[in-house]
Amino acid sequence: MNHRFDAGAETPDKTALIFEANDPTETPTSLTFSQLKTLVSRTANVLLSHGIKKGDRVALYLPMTFDLPISMLACARIGAVHSVVFGGFSSDALKARIKDSGSKVLITADGVGRGEKVINLKAIADAAMESLEEEDKVDHCLVLDRLNPEQLEANPTASNRDPTRDVDFKAAQAAASEDCPVTWMDAEDPLFILYTSGSTGTPKGVLHTTGGYMVYSGETFKNVFDYKGAPSDIFWCTADCGWITGHSYLAYGPLLSGCTSIVFEGVPNYPDASRFWSTVERHKVTQFYTAPTALRALMREGDEHVKKHDLSSLRVLGTVGEPINPAAWEWYNEVVGKGNCPIVDTWWQTETGGHMLTPLPGKWPLKPGSATLPFYGVAAALIDPASEEELEGNNVQGHLCMKKPWPGMARSLWNNHERFEEVYFSQFDGYFCTGDGAKRDEDGYYWVTGRVDDMLIVSGHNIGTAEVESSFVGHDDVAEAAVVGFPHEVKGEAIYAYVTLNHGVEGSEDLRFELKKQVAEELGAFCRPDVVHFTPALPKTRSGKIMRRILRKIADPSETEKLLAGDLECLGDTSTLADSAIVHDLVEGLREPC
Ligand code: PRX
Repeated sequence: MNHRFDAGAETPDKTALIFEANDPTETPTSLTFSQLKTLVSRTANVLLSHGIKKGDRVALYLPMTFDLPISMLACARIGAVHSVVFGGFSSDALKARIKDSGSKVLITADGVGRGEKVINLKAIADAAMESLEEEDKVDHCLVLDRLNPEQLEANPTASNRDPTRDVDFKAAQAAASEDCPVTWMDAEDPLFILYTSGSTGTPKGVLHTTGGYMVYSGETFKNVFDYKGAPSDIFWCTADCGWITGHSYLAYGPLLSGCTSIVFEGVPNYPDASRFWSTVERHKVTQFYTAPTALRALMREGDEHVKKHDLSSLRVLGTVGEPINPAAWEWYNEVVGKGNCPIVDTWWQTETGGHMLTPLPGKWPLKPGSATLPFYGVAAALIDPASEEELEGNNVQGHLCMKKPWPGMARSLWNNHERFEEVYFSQFDGYFCTGDGAKRDEDGYYWVTGRVDDMLIVSGHNIGTAEVESSFVGHDDVAEAAVVGFPHEVKGEAIYAYVTLNHGVEGSEDLRFELKKQVAEELGAFCRPDVVHFTPALPKTRSGKIMRRILRKIADPSETEKLLAGDLECLGDTSTLADSAIVHDLVEGLREPC
C-alpha cells in the first residue's frame, strides 16, 4: 500500500525556501510550500514533455538557486533519477557523469556569480555535450537564464543556444501545467545518483533509493538539528546541492519535515568575511550547518566580523565533511555560539545518505573534535586491519565499519553492482567498510582519524589521488605522478604532487603553473594542487609499489626543517626501496620553491 505522505501539505502558506543570492544586494526571495509544489509540478511537466519517464536519468548542472532543489524534486515527482553535478566541476567531469548515468536531459544555466567570479556554466556544459559520442548525447538541454546583462557581456558564449537541443527553462516552466500527478514509487526504486570519487578508477555513481533515503534524511534532520516543528525555526545548510550534504539537508531532510530553510548561492568570504553572520542575522537563522574549512578560513579574518552581528537566534551549530580541529571547534562554540549552542559534529558519507556518528543536541556531553556516538539504530564497529577481527571495548583504534544496515545506506553503484560489493563489502566479511579510520575512547566516543585509503579530503571534498595523478599523466611532458595530502591550515588537507617529467624536459615555473591549471580544468578548481614537486624518480619498492608513506612525510611542512638538516628518522624504514638514493633527491627538492 502506498504511504501518501505529502510534506508541507498541512502548512501550504509556510515559507519552505528562502533565497540568498551571491550578490548580497539582490533582495532575498522566498517560496511557500504551496508555491514550491506548483513550481516542482510545472518543472516535472516540462521533463515529461521532453520524454522523461519513470527510471530515466536527468543530469543537473545548476547554480544554487531555487531551481536546483526544484529540479531535483521535479525528477522525484515523476520517478526520474536525478544526477546532480556540482557547478564547480569541469566539462570532462560533467561529460563522464552524463555518459555513465545515461542522462538524456541536462538542466543547466547560462552561468553563475560565485564571489567576484562569474562561471560560464553554459560554455562548460556545451563542451561536455559536444564531446559526448553520438549514442551518449543528451536529447535536450534546459537552460536557466541567471546572468545579468553585464555578466553576459563579459561572457558572450554563455548566451549560445543550439535551437535543436536547447530549451528556455523558465519559459517552458511558465507554459507548463501546474497539475502533475505523483508517480508512485516502490520504496526500493532509485531516487538519485550522486557521483563521488573513488580511490581507483572512475567516480562512483552512488545510488540511493526512495523510501529508505527519505526516511533517513528526514529522521536525522529532525533529531540532529533539534527540529520540533517550531514555525520560527530557520535552518541553514551552507552546502551546495552538488554534494550529498545539500541533498540530504537542503533538498530532502528539511522539506520532508516541513521546515523553512535557506538556499545560499554565495561563498563565505564574499563580499567579506561577515557574509555568514550577516545572513544569520538577516533571516534569524536558528540552526546553522557548515564545514570546518569555512570556519577555519573565517576564524583567520578576526572575531569582529562575527561580533558586529546579532546571532542570538542561533540554537544549534553543526559541522560536516572532515574532522573539526579543537581550535576551530572552540571558536565556533565561543565566538559564534556564545557558549549557548550545542555543536553537532556530524560524521557521514555520500554512501550513508545521512548522519551516522553525531551528537544529539543536549543529550550527552560534547568533546571538541569527536563526532561522539552513533545515531540511533547505527551499529558502528572498529575492525583491526591486521587480524580482521572486530575490536571490542573502549580505547581501541581501527577501521570504521557498520555491522548492520540502516535506512539511508546506498543500495548500489550505478551500472556497477560488482564494484559496490567490492569497494564496501569485500574487505571485512559481513561489514560495510567506510574507508575511514577511527578511535573509540574510554567513554565510547568516536574520533574519526581520516581516510585509510588513497583518498584526500580537501576543504571537505573527497578527491581520489588516482584521479589527480591521471590528470597529470595526461600532460605530454609528464612521465609519472604521485599525489599525497599535507596538512593545510584552512583546507584541512591540500594536494602535494610529485611529478617526474619525460626525458629531456626541464621543470620550470611555467610548467608547474600549466600542470596545476590542467588539473583544475580537468577535474574542477577545488582539485587544484598546491604544490608540484619535480623529481627525477618516485620512491618505489622492488615490486614497483610507490611508498606513499615517505612521500607524505616529505610533503608535511612540519618535517621540512628536520629533513633539510639531514635528520631522516621521520621517514621510517626505507630499506625496502628499490633505490634508496631517491630519498635524498626528494628531500633536496624541498629547497626549490614548489
Ligand atoms: O572521511 C570522512 C569525511 O568525509 C568523508 C565522506 O565524504 P563525502 O562522501 O564527500 O561526504 C561528505 C559529507 C557527508 C568521510 O569518509 N568526513 C565527513 N564528515 C566528517 C568526516 N570526517 C571527520 N568528521 C566528520 N564530521
